[in-house]
Amino acid sequence: MIEKLSELAALRARVSEWKRQGLRVGFVPTMGNLHAGHYSLVELARQHADRVVSSVFVNPTQFGPNEDYTRYPRTPDADMAGLEAAGCDVLWLPTVESMYPFGVELAAKVHVPGVSGVLEGACRPGHFDGVCTVVSRLFNQVQPDVAAFGKKDYQQLAVIRQMVTDLAFPIQIIGGDIVREDDGLAMSSRNQYLSAQLRPQAAQIRKVLLQMQAGLAAGQPRTRVETEAGQRLDAAGFVTDYAVIRRPDLSEPAEDEPGARVALIAARLGTTRLIDNLEF
Ligand code: PAF
Repeated sequence: MIEKLSELAALRARVSEWKRQGLRVGFVPTMGNLHAGHYSLVELARQHADRVVSSVFVNPTQFGPNEDYTRYPRTPDADMAGLEAAGCDVLWLPTVESMYPFGVELAAKVHVPGVSGVLEGACRPGHFDGVCTVVSRLFNQVQPDVAAFGKKDYQQLAVIRQMVTDLAFPIQIIGGDIVREDDGLAMSSRNQYLSAQLRPQAAQIRKVLLQMQAGLAAGQPRTRVETEAGQRLDAAGFVTDYAVIRRPDLSEPAEDEPGARVALIAARLGTTRLIDNLEF
C-alpha cells in the first residue's frame, strides 16, 4: 500500500527508518500527470533500490512567464493509483510554501553553467536553474541513494548529472529509456494539449530523428542533415526551435569526427512544444 506524505518530518522519519534497516532508497521526481514513461522510471528505480519514493510537485520556478504552469495538468488520484501499481512505496507531495519557505523570489538558486545554456536552456532561459533548484531541494528532502530521470529530457539528465558531481550529492543517477506511443511519439504530459487533428502529425518528430541518423550514417555532412531536418519539420507543419546532432555531452562535434551522437529536436505544433531525441 502506497503511503502519501506531505510533511517533511514524516518523510525523513520514513526514509531514516529504511536506512536504519540497511535498505537502499530510490527516487523518481515528477510533476505529476503520470504516464507509462514515469511508471517505467519507478520500475527502473525499483531494480536499483529496496524502496522507492516518488514526488509530485509542479515546480513554478522552471516555467517561463508565458509557459503553462497554471494549466499544467494535475491528476492526483490517477497518479497515486498508478504509482502504487508501479511499485512506489511513498508519494511525496510538497507544497510550494514548503519547497520555497522564503518565497519563490527569495529562493536560493542552483545554476549549472555550460550545459544549461544551450538548446533548451537557450530557448527557455532560466528553465534549468528552476529544475536544478527544485531537484537539489528534493534530493535534500528525500536523501535517496539512487534517482531515476527519463532520457526524453536528455539535456535535463546531463544537467542533473553535472550538478550531482559538482555539488557532491551522494546519489547515483540513472537514465530511463524513452517510452513511446505506438506511432513513435515520445510519451509526455504535454501530448494531451495536441488537438485530434494535430496529434497524428506529432509522430513526424521521431521519423525526422531516424532520418537524421540515416543521413549521418550515409556520410552526409552534419550541418546539411540538421538543415534538412528543420526543413522537413517545417514542411510537416512544425515551428522548429532546433534540430541538431551533438556529442553525448551536448557539445558540437567537428565534421567527420567519429564517435557517439545524439540527435535532438524541439519543435512546436500549434501551441504545443514537443521535444525528443535519438542516441546512436
Ligand atoms: O522532468 C520533470 O518532470 C521535472 O523537470 C522534474 C525533474 C520533476 C523537476 O521538477
